[in-house]
Amino acid sequence: MILTLALLVIVGSVCLVHSSYPPTLVMDMAKILAQNYCYPERLEGIIEAIEAARSNTDILNIPDPNAVAMALSAGMASTIGDSRLLITYEPDFIPKATPVLSSVPPEYLISIIKKSVQVEVLENNIGYFRIDHIIGEDIAEKIGPLLVENIWNKVLLTSAMILDLRHTASGELSGVPYIVSYFSNAEPPTCISTVYDRPSNTTVEFRSLPELLGKRYGVSKDLIILTSKNTRGVAEDVAYAMKNMKRATIVGERTAGGSLKIEKLRVGETGFYFTMPTASVRSPITGESWEVKGVTPCIEVDAGDALETAVKIINLRSTIPVIVQEASVLVAEKYAFTQIAEDVSQKLLDLLENGTYSMINSETELEARLSADLKELSGDKFILFIFLMVRASFQTDILENNVGLLRFDMFGDFEQVAPIAKIIVENVWNKVVNTTALVIDLRNNVGGYTSTISGFCSYFFDGNKQILLDTLYNRPSETLKEMWTLSRLTGERYGEKKGLIILTSAATMGAAEEFVYIMKKLGRATVIGEVTRGGCHPPETFRVADSDVYLSVPVTRSDALQDHGWEGVGISPHIPASADAALDTAKELLNEHFGGQK
Ligand SMILES: *[C@@H]1O[C@H](CO)[C@@H](O)[C@H](O)[C@H]1NC(C)=O
Ligand SMILES: *[C@@H]1O[C@H](CO)[C@@H](O)[C@H](O)[C@H]1NC(C)=O
Ligand SMILES: *[C@@H]1O[C@H](CO)[C@@H](O)[C@H](O)[C@H]1NC(C)=O
Repeated sequence: MILTLALLVIVGSVCLVHSSYPPTLVMDMAKILAQNYCYPERLEGIIEAIEAARSNTDILNIPDPNAVAMALSAGMASTIGDSRLLITYEPDFIPKATPVLSSVPPEYLISIIKKSVQVEVLENNIGYFRIDHIIGEDIAEKIGPLLVENIWNKVLLTSAMILDLRHTASGELSGVPYIVSYFSNAEPPTCISTVYDRPSNTTVEFRSLPELLGKRYGVSKDLIILTSKNTRGVAEDVAYAMKNMKRATIVGERTAGGSLKIEKLRVGETGFYFTMPTASVRSPITGESWEVKGVTPCIEVDAGDALETAVKIINLRSTIPVIVQEASVLVAEKYAFTQIAEDVSQKLLDLLENGTYSMINSETELEARLSADLKELSGDKFILFIFLMVRASFQTDILENNVGLLRFDMFGDFEQVAPIAKIIVENVWNKVVNTTALVIDLRNNVGGYTSTISGFCSYFFDGNKQILLDTLYNRPSETLKEMWTLSRLTGERYGEKKGLIILTSAATMGAAEEFVYIMKKLGRATVIGEVTRGGCHPPETFRVADSDVYLSVPVTRSDALQDHGWEGVGISPHIPASADAALDTAKELLNEHFGGQK
C-alpha cells in the first residue's frame, strides 16, 4: 500500500500535462484486480488506499503510455508481492481464439493425441509413458475407448511405470483427476487439489474418480514421475499431488513453477491490459501450491539423466523384498543374541510388509534404513558395517618426560598383519617401546579385526605368565572361545609395569572397544576421554539373495560368562574428557605423576 502511494508520488514529479488517459484509469485497474485476482485476501486495504489516493492523478501526466504501464505494473507487483501481476499497453492486441478440438472427428483426434504421447515397455517390464499435453475431460470422454485400447493397454501390464512429464508444458486441469485416478484405488475417493476461481468466486475440489474406463494401474506398483524445468502448469499439479499422496517418486529437475490460470484483461476501453492469475490451486495435503515455486523432486538430477536414474531406482526396489526376507532369515539363524533373534527377524518382515522400504531410492539409503531399523529393533545391539578397506596406519610421537604416543585408526587382520609384523615393529613399535609411559590414541579408531587383539594386548604384560583376556561366544558354532595372552611375540614387550593411558571418543568402536574393554577390566590402563560408541564384534558378512547387498550380522559377543559386555553400551572412561581435550588431560596427569617423582 505504501509502495503504491510512494510510486504515485514519484512518477508524479515528471510533470507534463497529458490528458489522453481516462481519469479513472488507476481506479479501473484496481477494480479489475479486486474482481479477478485469485488471492483477494492479499488486497485488504490496498484497494481503499488506491481509492484514497485517486485525487492524485499525477501519474496520468506521463505522456508515454508504456512508461505508465511499467510504473503501475512494478508498483502493483511489489505492493501485492506477486511478480505475475503485469500491466501492459497494447492497443493492437487481439486475443487468441482457443482451438475447439472437441469438434474434430475422433479418428483424427486420436492421431493428434498419439503424437503427443509415447508408450513403450522397457527392459524388466517397466512401462514408459510420456505425455506432452494433458488432455481435458471433454476429449477424454469423447475418445476414451480409443485411448484405452491404443495407449493405456500397452503399458497396463507392466510391473512398474515411469511417467515422463519432462516435456509437458500445457494441458487441461480437468485431465488431472483422470491421470491420478488410474494410479489410485477406486475407493475411497481422495481430494487431489482444491481450485479457487476468483471471477466466479467458487472453490472446486478435484477428486479421484470412482469409475474409469479400462483397468487401473493400482497403488502397489512403483510409479516414478520424471520432471524438468520445462514441466509446467497442470503437469505440475499431477506431480505435486502424487508426490504428496506418496504415490510417486519425482525424479528430475525442479519444475517451472507456472500458474494454473493467467488471464489478460482489458482495462475499460483503453489499450491497457492487466494480466493476473485468476485461479489458484492448493494441495489438501500440504495446504500449499506448486505455483511460482515449482515442485521439488524427491531425487534431483539433470532432466537428461532422469530416465536412467528412474530405471535404476525401479530395479533396486524390485530386489528389496527378497533382500529383506533373506536378511530376516540370516538374523534368525546367525544373530548372537539368541533370545531376541527371532523377534528382530519377525519385526523386520513386518516392516517390509507395511511398506517401510517401498520408497527407497538408493543402495546407500537401503543400507542406512536397514541398519537403523536393525539397530532399533535389537535395542542397539546390531550394527551393519560398511567395510572400508582402510589400510591400518600408525602415528607415533615422543612427548615430555619420554612419554610415547601411538595412534592407529583400525585394527588389521592377523593374516595380513603377521607377515608384516617385523616391519611394524621396526618402523612403529621400536619408536615407543623404550618410553617411560605410553599413550594409545584410539579416538579415531573404528575397529576392524579382532584377530590381532590378543597379540597386541600381550605386549603390555610380562611374558612369564599367561593371562585370560576375554571369553567370546560364537553363535554359528555355538562355542565359547577363550582369548589368552601370547607367549611369543615379534619384538620387545612393553611389559606390565610402565604407565599406560588409552584415549577414547564416542567414535571409538568395534575391535578398538574390545581392546579398551580388556585393558580396563584387567586394570592395565587408565582410560581418558568419552564413552565409546557401543558397537559390536566384527560381524560376519552374508550375501543376500544373490544380490549386491551384503548383510553383516554380529555373530560373536564378548565376555560370555557375564551377561553384559560392552556391545551396544560402550565403555565408560576412568577420567571423562571431551575427545578434543583427552590428550591434554592425559598430559596433565602424566606431568603431575612425573613432577611428583622429582
Ligand atoms: C465469495 O463467496 C463467499 C461464500 O462462498 C462469500 O463469503 C464472499 O463474500 C464472496 N466474495 C466475494 C468477493 O463475492
Ligand atoms: C510401519 O511400521 C512401523 C513400526 O510399527 C512404523 O514406525 C512405520 O511408520 C510403519 N510404516 C508405514 C509406511 O506404515
Ligand atoms: C630398549 O632398551 C633396551 C635396554 O636399554 C635395549 O636393549 C633395546 O635395544 C632398546 N630397544 C630399542 C628398540 O631401542
